[in-house]
Amino acid sequence: MKKTVSLLIAAVMAVMMFTACGSSQSKTLTMGTNAAFPPYEFYDGDKIVGIDAEIAEELAKRLGYELEIVDMEFGSIITSVQTGKVDMGIAGMTVTEDRLQNVNFSDSYAGGVQVIIVKEDSDIASPDDLDGKLIGVQENTTGHIYCAEDYGEENVIAYTNGATAVQALVQGKVDCVIIDSQPAQSFVAGNEGLKILDTEYVAEDYAIAVSKENEDLLKEINKALAEMTADGTTQAILDKYITAE
Ligand code: ARG
Repeated sequence: MKKTVSLLIAAVMAVMMFTACGSSQSKTLTMGTNAAFPPYEFYDGDKIVGIDAEIAEELAKRLGYELEIVDMEFGSIITSVQTGKVDMGIAGMTVTEDRLQNVNFSDSYAGGVQVIIVKEDSDIASPDDLDGKLIGVQENTTGHIYCAEDYGEENVIAYTNGATAVQALVQGKVDCVIIDSQPAQSFVAGNEGLKILDTEYVAEDYAIAVSKENEDLLKEINKALAEMTADGTTQAILDKYITAE
């Protein structure tokens, strides 16, 4: 009798251990981002929220992963994807030829536009007026790269994030800020005396960066993104954060 009981206990324990192993195997998908870029990624208290966070959450759910978001400098995201520190980079990141040398990009899930923020009384009315002006940008972004090419590195001041660049504009340390249109609107709404010029600087596509070593993940992401477009999920996420003007 005693023997049967201990055998039973052993059997129950074996089953429990087996189940525990199974559930602890829930896979994690890590996303590298730079959470200073509203409405794509920003902090709400100590939680990172926004369009990209929700797209990633939905992707993870559809692919059967737990999502983990890792906040870092924008310029570190590509390397972190390359070295496998994170599985994917989602950061309102524009697809460029240079970046494609280092990572693969998913299909695009949103569009972006580089715009020019100036003080309300500025004499700058279009990109043609920028020669000899001091331009503030966020470090390592396309705004930074294009401005350095078009107007010369010496006319560009790179800040660690867009909000700091906009503060420099408010304080008169730069003559304008070139940054993606959605964060631009959020920064202008949060500061007195600024406006966004009607003439756009560059139009671009946002996509998810994945390691070149991880073709399978790229395929899975593209499949889920296509489904999210087809069933309206992506548009619903965009509409939640972007109000049509
Ligand atoms: N679209 C621009 C780029 O790819 C800026 C992205 C900045 N994103 C961020 N989360 N800070 O370079």
